Amino acid sequence: MAEGWRAFQRALRAYGRATGARGLHADRAALERCLDQPAPEDPAALRAVKADLRELVHGGLPEGAAGEVAARVDAALRVLGGEVATEPVRVAVEGWPPGADAGLRAALVGRPGGGPWMLPPEEAAALVRALDGQVLGGAVLAVRVALAPGQRLPAPAREARDRSRRGGETPWLPHLDEEGAYSLTPQDLARRQAALLPGPVVVDAFCGCGGNAIALALAGRRVIAVERDPGRLALARRNARALGATLELVEGDARALLPGILARHPGADLLLDPPWGGPGSAGRPAGWSELVALPEALLAACGRVLLKAPRAFSLASLPAGRSWTWTFERTAPGADGRATVACITCLGVPR
Ligand SMILES: C[S@@+](CC[C@H](N)C(=O)[O-])C[C@H]1O[C@@H](n2cnc3c(N)ncnc32)[C@H](O)[C@@H]1O
Repeated sequence: MAEGWRAFQRALRAYGRATGARGLHADRAALERCLDQPAPEDPAALRAVKADLRELVHGGLPEGAAGEVAARVDAALRVLGGEVATEPVRVAVEGWPPGADAGLRAALVGRPGGGPWMLPPEEAAALVRALDGQVLGGAVLAVRVALAPGQRLPAPAREARDRSRRGGETPWLPHLDEEGAYSLTPQDLARRQAALLPGPVVVDAFCGCGGNAIALALAGRRVIAVERDPGRLALARRNARALGATLELVEGDARALLPGILARHPGADLLLDPPWGGPGSAGRPAGWSELVALPEALLAACGRVLLKAPRAFSLASLPAGRSWTWTFERTAPGADGRATVACITCLGVPR
């Protein structure tokens, strides 16, 4: 036990240093309660914790892998390590990125005010499941729950784990392929983003099926839109025609084409909605160089730059040399009363 505890603590500290995760809750008493259960409620979960601890002590795992195992044990201890709390518990959410104001915090937690909140244990458990460890703007959120000694949270309700918010939305463009439908900017957001780029000429470097480009054209801008996938470019053309928008569509790689386009249109605004790497990538931290991969020097030739970034995007990686502001774009509250961040609109204006 003592050896297991020490290996677990070492791995947790390394994990915290490597990932910035601060939502780790383990205490030694919880581990003891978990390991000493005379009649385990969940024998399989208990066996998994024991196997993980053995691996931490004897496995010689590299630091990163040991951290992952320790984080898994830590999460299991919150479920296995005590009596289920029945009275409201004090919950605080920490680690918010810059710009996450009280309105956003309240929307993501589903309760008014900036916290801490006294929440029924089931709600606290659902919040831990939803937000703890979530990467937002490059920061890692930590949900802190003040439990009395010997208490644990109940397992979160099934609906809280399985909720999906993408189903049922009717796309606002008629011609889409699978990726185009997944990555289409919702109309309301595309309009709001268009309003942030007031210059007469806008270059959309990653046009897709045309959501942002069409919203910009309908807002009166001259739009030059680049797309490397010929099929999607054709869909953008059909969508533009269907909505009565005029686009100058260019097929090819934005990274190769942008220098020439910007040389012909110096000072044009630039809209960047690069691929995020698919549905599974929402939680993966990404910075400018992985996501956009455009040389920062290229931005010198632009007016405003708008980046639509995934919620995990590291805001600290936005290129220097411009003044950046950002908005966490959130969904409407779900059945549980909580919103989520769908993406971040980052706006960079020349200094
Ligand atoms: C997120 S989607 C754009 C969605 C679009 N804003 C909308 O609302 O419909 C990104 C698009 O960028 C395209 N793309 C990716 N890398 C590119 C590159 N280097 N040059 C041009 N297009 C690229 C992909 O084929 C994809 O269609």
